[in-house]
Amino acid sequence: MDKASLGIGIFDSGVGGVTVLKELINLLPGENFYYLGDTAHVPYGSKSKEELLILGDAIIRFFLKLGVKMVVFACNTSSAITLPILKERYPVLMEGMLEPLRKNMPAKAKVGVLATEATVKSGLYQKKLMETNKFQEVYMVACPQYVPLIEKGIVSGKEVEEATREYFEPLLKEEVRDVVLGCTHYPFLTETIQKLYPKIQVIDPAAYVAREVYRKLKENKLLGENGGKVQFYVTGDEKSLKNLGSLYLGYNIDKVQKIDLEV
Ligand code: SIN
Repeated sequence: MDKASLGIGIFDSGVGGVTVLKELINLLPGENFYYLGDTAHVPYGSKSKEELLILGDAIIRFFLKLGVKMVVFACNTSSAITLPILKERYPVLMEGMLEPLRKNMPAKAKVGVLATEATVKSGLYQKKLMETNKFQEVYMVACPQYVPLIEKGIVSGKEVEEATREYFEPLLKEEVRDVVLGCTHYPFLTETIQKLYPKIQVIDPAAYVAREVYRKLKENKLLGENGGKVQFYVTGDEKSLKNLGSLYLGYNIDKVQKIDLEV
């Protein structure tokens, strides 16, 4: 079989990766995608490296069984913690959230990054972004309330606003003006964030990721031509994907297959 005609696997702990999927569909209309939301294990942001590695391993094996030419880690926690290890274990192209951001984001003196506890604890975002010399100061803020709220379908209202005020307090104190959404779930909250802080420049790395995926496929002569299909899979609840996911993509996700990860 011609390798270029294989699909692209994309995964997240839940519905968050759909924000990346949308950019991929727009930029790569010739590709077919397999989207996996590991909703049986959401949130990833409070998991240990060992737990994330077991899940990451099982997810890559699931995609390889389906037959894919690339796996996109549409999850910042996994990109920071497991991608560097899994890249060495499996002979398949992989792309995450961090490298495309580091490469493509314009230089800023100060930048804030909202992320999960695990991502912040890894220290990798700060280290990698500062290595580029494009940023003098990088302020990381852990936002543990966001993912559970979003998976419940709560993307606005009192709870989201209260959490947002709490998470922005240290950034406002440091007069940070540019804030990266360092978790793929967070773009669902952009409207609330901009309503509370209209002067903040919110940066969603999803478009940078799509650009890097395109570049890697082209470089490896793997760009597909007969795509346009997306198959959805979950390991647990499918509600967030069907409801929020459909809303974000602008079409109805009517078929979601439930799978068991072999962990
Ligand atoms: C989560 O499940 O905590 C979200 C993971 C991420 O996108 O960083």
